[in-house]
Amino acid sequence: MGSASREIEGKHILVTGGAGFLGSHLIDALVLEGARRVTVVDNLYLGTPANLVAARRNMGGLQILYVDISDVRSMREALFDLGSIDVVFNLAALPLPICLEQPHYCFDTNMRITSVLCELLREKRYATLVHVSSSCVYGSMQAHPLSEKDAVNPLTPYAASKVSCDSLVLSYARTFDLDALVIRPFSIYGPRQYARQYATVLPVLIRCALEDAVFSFFGDGKQSRDFLFVADAVRAMIALYRCADSRGQTVNIASGRETQIKDLKAKIEELMKKSILCEYCEPRVCDIDRQRGDITLLKSLTDWEPQVTLDEGLQQTIEFYTQQMDDAQRPQRMVALHDARGR
Ligand SMILES: NC(=O)c1ccc[n+]([C@@H]2O[C@H](COP(=O)([O-])OP(=O)(O)OC[C@H]3O[C@@H](n4cnc5c(N)ncnc54)[C@H](O)[C@@H]3O)[C@@H](O)[C@H]2O)c1
Repeated sequence: MGSASREIEGKHILVTGGAGFLGSHLIDALVLEGARRVTVVDNLYLGTPANLVAARRNMGGLQILYVDISDVRSMREALFDLGSIDVVFNLAALPLPICLEQPHYCFDTNMRITSVLCELLREKRYATLVHVSSSCVYGSMQAHPLSEKDAVNPLTPYAASKVSCDSLVLSYARTFDLDALVIRPFSIYGPRQYARQYATVLPVLIRCALEDAVFSFFGDGKQSRDFLFVADAVRAMIALYRCADSRGQTVNIASGRETQIKDLKAKIEELMKKSILCEYCEPRVCDIDRQRGDITLLKSLTDWEPQVTLDEGLQQTIEFYTQQMDDAQRPQRMVALHDARGR
């Protein structure tokens, strides 16, 4: 087994779901912070190796294992070949929209991913589990920002899977005296977030602006979320791992600010200097109405402060998707240019 001392430098770190949005940014940061070795486990359900280009540039030996983590036998074999591992950051999960079509599959897969990792922790195949949950466990906010002390209120089977996974991790930590913690991010955004099927609101808004497509408001657009830029989220995750007092705790990661979806649309329109076509549809079943995170615990455990304003984060995100669209269109433009010249 690896060491339970909570440092990044010199450690072998395994990131599940590392080819996804949040995982790939975490890996970029872990490499820069001096991890000795980083291993990614991802079955590419939504992730892509393209998200790991920068990390591979900075760490030649970055290893990617294309394994389904919910399959305990495959994971045992994968870990056996890897030798000593210090910490697992668990970000692998099926996303919320899957649970609306296939609730059993979504709940079952998310639970099995977590129970496999709990078992491997109990078997001392690695020393520390940093489990990534979600603010969706709280449901909608009433009067006060959502705190870790609030009761959970899962509105969907996806949220129920997250609640169950959190309970499982904490129960293993208590029963078997293991080193584990649960992190609850609110709405994280930034470059590389999945922008097509299953996408969350922000990449959809930017894509609608770039493609002149119609954005659908579900309800009146007054629903709110607590948006945090991905670089700030990753710094918070690393700060919590480094803090020994986070052992056995559940900690929110958020900006502490609330933004309505209609205001987010207006901000994107202002930054992109164009208006986004929109339509108003019926509210979605079990949609969360309001969210804002209470980050008192995060701040009391670490010296973390958000560094990126919403405008700065949106600007970086817009630039990423604009570049991605330009890259996708370049071959077509080259053909068009060639045809035009050839004629
Ligand atoms: N992005 C957010 O705003 C946000 C907010 C709260 C919580 N989270 C949590 O953070 C984690 C990462 O989120 P994300 O936005 O990066 O999502 P993502 O979909 O981009 O990343 C998840 C990754 O897990 C992989 N995966 C799924 N099932 C797998 C399996 N059985 N075996 C191996 N790999 C599998 C996917 O291929 C994907 O690369 C998730 O657990 C999510 O619930 C994200």
